[in-house]
Amino acid sequence: MFTIITGSQFGDEGKGKIVDLMAGQYDLIVRFQGGDNAGHTVVVNGKKYKLHLTPSGVLFDARLLIGPGTVMNPQTLAKELDTLEEDGTLVDEKKLGIDAKTSIIMPYHVELDGLRESARTEKIGTTKRGIGYAYIDKVARDELQMADLADETQLRKRLEELRPIKEAQIESMGGDPHIMEDETWILQYIELGRRFAPYITDVSHEINTALDAGKNVLAEGAQGAFLDVIHGTQKFVTSSSCIAGSACANLGVGPTRVDEVMGIVKAYITRVGEGPLPTELLDSTGDQIQKAGGEFGTTTGRPRRCGWFDLPLVKKSVALNGYTHIALTKLDVLSNIHPLRVCTAYELDGMRLDYPPESTSDLARCKPVYEDVPGWDEDLTGILNMNDLPPAAREYVDKLESLLGVPFRYISVGPGREQTFIK
Ligand code: GDP
Ligand code: IMO
Ligand code: MG
Repeated sequence: MFTIITGSQFGDEGKGKIVDLMAGQYDLIVRFQGGDNAGHTVVVNGKKYKLHLTPSGVLFDARLLIGPGTVMNPQTLAKELDTLEEDGTLVDEKKLGIDAKTSIIMPYHVELDGLRESARTEKIGTTKRGIGYAYIDKVARDELQMADLADETQLRKRLEELRPIKEAQIESMGGDPHIMEDETWILQYIELGRRFAPYITDVSHEINTALDAGKNVLAEGAQGAFLDVIHGTQKFVTSSSCIAGSACANLGVGPTRVDEVMGIVKAYITRVGEGPLPTELLDSTGDQIQKAGGEFGTTTGRPRRCGWFDLPLVKKSVALNGYTHIALTKLDVLSNIHPLRVCTAYELDGMRLDYPPESTSDLARCKPVYEDVPGWDEDLTGILNMNDLPPAAREYVDKLESLLGVPFRYISVGPGREQTFIK
């Protein structure tokens, strides 16, 4: 079985939690795009794991893979694996494979990301992890891949080739070009190349072979549909494609092999960084949701902007991803809000739209049309089945499910693995 999981909104929907929950049923768990801009949180027995590059199935026996469509900062990965080992989870080359073609995030990508973001009059609010510049180099064919990192001669040769281009770029943006000849990081990268050399693999081949043998493979997306570089709210997006189809292209697995596509949908909406968010709440209700949901970025610690459930956006996400199932997360956060509101349509230039306009600037001008629905006061964090939900919470879930037309498989009512039930 091949299952793809993606975020349906602007990221941070709870992908990490749901991947961890499902991981026990899978033999391979694979990251297919993005880099350490992602922050996926897994909470088990009260212990919190914040994962940026390691697939969220790390606490199970599955083998983990980082695909060639990701951009990997080896410093982040090394730190993450060291922390996991200190906590008793050894992630060696038997446990984790990194595709030979995975793009490496270099310190100059991080530098360029920061310089570009500071120079923008209208900010994107990137995570400053060098993601965009690493993807630029991939498309420009100026990347360094995992196989280059593991080969000191090749690494130095590539750096020598790229040095004049990168120096000119950094200098033109007001940065210090000396970073390109700083042996401190170059030696550190050579060392990281040695460390990760045994992890090198062919991800497409591993996945196809596993599927041929009847094994189960789970592809874990990062970010969310509206941060997608093609279908998102450009320019306020990340630099990779985050929708389900991207998993096939990025992993080298044919679309005919996909069995399930699971969408992770937050019971409201959040966004970190700039860009349109039609249902954004700039009042005390927004503050209440932010506090109750702990809506602060896993990667940057920035407060997440919060808003009411935006049905047109999630409907578009269903179309973009072809979801077969949905996991609804963070329902517990909506306790004690009266009434709750669901944005069922937008108004734009006197017209009513029940699907988002394709242009980002039009989306930014949309005014939400709300339907008020009853709230509830009960604490949901201990609830273990649908029938025990207060009637208003059950109605909220049923309403979203029928409006989206996709079966809800999981309902999540807290950060812990056990705070989830099957609908
Ligand atoms: P991801 O990027 O999609 O993996 O999501 P993040 O981990 O960045 O953000 C989701 C946050 O919500 C994390 O702190 C999770 O521990 C937490 N979380 C996940 N599901 C639930 C839930 O159902 N209820 C509550 N209260 N927190 C949740
Ligand atoms: P997970 O996987 C939420 C946002 C950034 C910024 C934009 C571009 O945890 O859901 P980038 O550094 O990627 O060039 O920044 O994308 N962003 C995320 N927002 N969750 C994420 O990942 C994100 N990854 C990037 O805040 O607005
Ligand atoms: Mg996150």
